[in-house]
Amino acid sequence: MTTANAPSSADGARNGGELVIEHVSHSYGHGPTAISVLDDVSFTVPADSVTCVVGPSGCGKSTLLSLAAGLMSPTSGRLRWDGAEVRLGPSKHLGMAFQQPGLFPWMTVHRNVAVGLETRGASKRDARRIADEFLATVGLADFARAYPSQLSGGMAQRVGIARALALQPRLLLLDEPFAAVDAFTRLTLQGELISMLDLVKPTVVLVTHDVSEAITLGHVIVVMSNRPAGVKAVIPVAEEDRDKSTAAYAHRLAQVLGELGVTGQHGPPVAGRPE
Ligand SMILES: Nc1ncnc2c1ncn2[C@@H]1O[C@H](COP(=O)(O)OP(=O)(O)O)[C@@H](O)[C@H]1O
Ligand SMILES: [Mg+2]
Repeated sequence: MTTANAPSSADGARNGGELVIEHVSHSYGHGPTAISVLDDVSFTVPADSVTCVVGPSGCGKSTLLSLAAGLMSPTSGRLRWDGAEVRLGPSKHLGMAFQQPGLFPWMTVHRNVAVGLETRGASKRDARRIADEFLATVGLADFARAYPSQLSGGMAQRVGIARALALQPRLLLLDEPFAAVDAFTRLTLQGELISMLDLVKPTVVLVTHDVSEAITLGHVIVVMSNRPAGVKAVIPVAEEDRDKSTAAYAHRLAQVLGELGVTGQHGPPVAGRPE
């Protein structure tokens, strides 16, 4: 695949930057009814890494992503991207995808991907070409003219992720992107995401409630505590941990589940239901 304005794909250069979260606390509301959600959260998302955030349902993971995206300002503390403080408002370096892909129902699949590129200044011609390329990468070239209502949940999620990555973001924020699809589709989508990340090479923060997914995709796993959430542990993932048939994988899984306080030996390796 050739992507004209993705130099990283051609020369293997780095694309992402570093996201630093410094003593971030956040509350919703004011006074006695305020809900304290994040409490003195600090960690660094290294450039070009995939950092997975896991934690109990409702602990503040989505809040943290909203702060990183500049959709809200923290009550205290600060976030820095590439050395500069994250400020409120849209940023050109950012791509996002959520559990619900949020496609425009009145636009074709192709248009859904191309429109964001045009908004960010690409010519119609470039936007069309890049949309073609990213849809082909996720195996949806034949559905370019379909409308979102004609897609399965997994296909719609593919479009959402292709749309975010087609922007060739330097920072990609993913909030439980595979939580709403079946287990088999989830594994396929994880593989496709790895291929697309290899092309674009952004810095990634991925929130997931699936610890196994965090080990498959992450270089680092940040485990959050109950609300008001702090950082309970920052756990590096080695390449050998990713093979689910190995003792290294089982060890890493047990370590993360232990930090989450999930002590039982039975049941799926999840941190809570998706929010
Ligand atoms: N806009 C909001 N106003 C008030 N409370 C909110 C708002 N958004 C989230 N919350 C509350 O903050 C807590 C953390 O939410 P969230 O960040 O979505 O958690 P998570 O993604 O970890 O499940 C929850 O108790 C939720 O109800
Ligand atoms: Mg959430």
